[in-house]
Amino acid sequence: MTDLIPLPRYAHTYRGHFELGPDTRLVAGEGAGASERWLRGTLGAATGFPLAPGDSPENGIQLYIHPMVTKDLGPEGYRLMVLSHTVHVVGGGPAGLFWGAQTLRQLLGPDAFRRAPLPGREWRLPLTHVQDSPRFRWRGLMLDVARHFMPKEGVLRYLDLMAGHKLNVFHFHLTDDQGWRVQIKRYPKLTEIGSWRARTKFGHRASPLWDDKPHGGYYTQDDIREIVAYAAERHITVVPEIDVPGHSQAAIAAYPELGNTDVIDTTSLSVWDTWGINPNVLAPTDNTLRFYEGVFEELLDLFPSEFIHVGGDECPKDQWKQSPTAQARIGELGLADEDELQSWFIGHFDKWLSARGRRLVGWDEILEGGLADGAVVSSWRGYEGGITAARAGHDVVMCPEQHVYLDWRQDAGEDEPVPIAHVRTLEDVYRFEPVPAQLTEAEARHVLGAQANVWTEVMEDHARVDYQTFPRLAAFAEVAWSALPAPAERDFADFERRMTAHYPRLDALGVAYRPPTGPLPWQRRPGVLGRPKDGPPSNA
Ligand code: ACM
Repeated sequence: MTDLIPLPRYAHTYRGHFELGPDTRLVAGEGAGASERWLRGTLGAATGFPLAPGDSPENGIQLYIHPMVTKDLGPEGYRLMVLSHTVHVVGGGPAGLFWGAQTLRQLLGPDAFRRAPLPGREWRLPLTHVQDSPRFRWRGLMLDVARHFMPKEGVLRYLDLMAGHKLNVFHFHLTDDQGWRVQIKRYPKLTEIGSWRARTKFGHRASPLWDDKPHGGYYTQDDIREIVAYAAERHITVVPEIDVPGHSQAAIAAYPELGNTDVIDTTSLSVWDTWGINPNVLAPTDNTLRFYEGVFEELLDLFPSEFIHVGGDECPKDQWKQSPTAQARIGELGLADEDELQSWFIGHFDKWLSARGRRLVGWDEILEGGLADGAVVSSWRGYEGGITAARAGHDVVMCPEQHVYLDWRQDAGEDEPVPIAHVRTLEDVYRFEPVPAQLTEAEARHVLGAQANVWTEVMEDHARVDYQTFPRLAAFAEVAWSALPAPAERDFADFERRMTAHYPRLDALGVAYRPPTGPLPWQRRPGVLGRPKDGPPSNA
């Protein structure tokens, strides 16, 4: 019995072991370079062994790619065979090999997750045979670095945590009303003005508390290049999000001409310091389109991802209703209403991105008023948007808030820090099913996968992000990777058993997860108002 997370398709252990020692070599075949570097870096640090390059199968860990594994398990699949004198990790492709290397580290025990050796430690791999491949190709985590900035080293740490859980898409929410986090060279004020705010609401927006220290930060273009390359080395794709036409007050504060200047005095706006849905949205003008084409031009240079996220969520239409400019645009384009104006706006960037070989992704509001061709939908307000999109032949990423919004509280207890929305326990996440039963098999093929979303309004530092994200991300990773049965039949007791081995791995990595017994004293936020909701969520 193994204690691997996520659960592999097949795993069996036998009596006996392979012992790792100072003479153990890494024997890497063609295409195995990233896994070799990663194993030497991580296991080398944890064990203190050089894991020198070798060319003989004796006393070595063999890393290679084999067409039989590609054929049987796909490019992300792998076989792992631990024999008493040698270890074989065989990938269907470089990514599969890397996921196999992750499994190898888990088999070595929690101390393999440390960054320096403990004295007198023996490093034994149980004789094991694993065959494994993912259920979904999109196994995502979205991190909101706009509401609270996460400095670069924190992002790199999250990429390592993702890799450790075999997650492979990092959705990087880079802009919002409360901050613009990526350097755009032709528009320096986006970061000079847009990347910081003077103070911040502490707790839910109804809380009377303020944190009066300025908050901010952004990634330079070189920081982004480093993040993207670090992710690529770990077979993770970074999907950037620039949220338009709503969630844009930070951009409007920097460049007031982007807002609806015929409705409000946009020069009076500053980067937003509280939470909620913001009425100050982009003006649907040629100037705005040209400005954001400039932003996306620099973005495409930085992010090689096929998928580029343009947001599209929660764009209140009040200013467009009042704006003579917006109304003239509706008339000139022969549109029915403001929803169609939003569709036109998103459709513009869909065509613009398609012409450059990329694919637009948007939150499910992009369905309102007609969906752009080729667009991919992030279904967040439940399953419905995803079902509609899949039926219309669009690809979908399932991230319904009722299941995988990790800002939602994990327990009904009084001690839960700044509790938001309905209770979503570790077990609730474990029983999340990305493919809704209503879809036919052909429609279901449009579900690219699933994503957990971490919105950070009430997560002021990375310990708070860890607390909300873990351990639930481990359950999510298993849902996205493993071939689990239907939700009611899932063996949560076995998952909990494996979690007793996984918590020590997270401890060794320094993850400030929520313990099963509840928050530690310093994880509580007494007196900070949240917004808990009772009962089960609707559309659950
Ligand atoms: C969202 O949660 N507004 C996508």
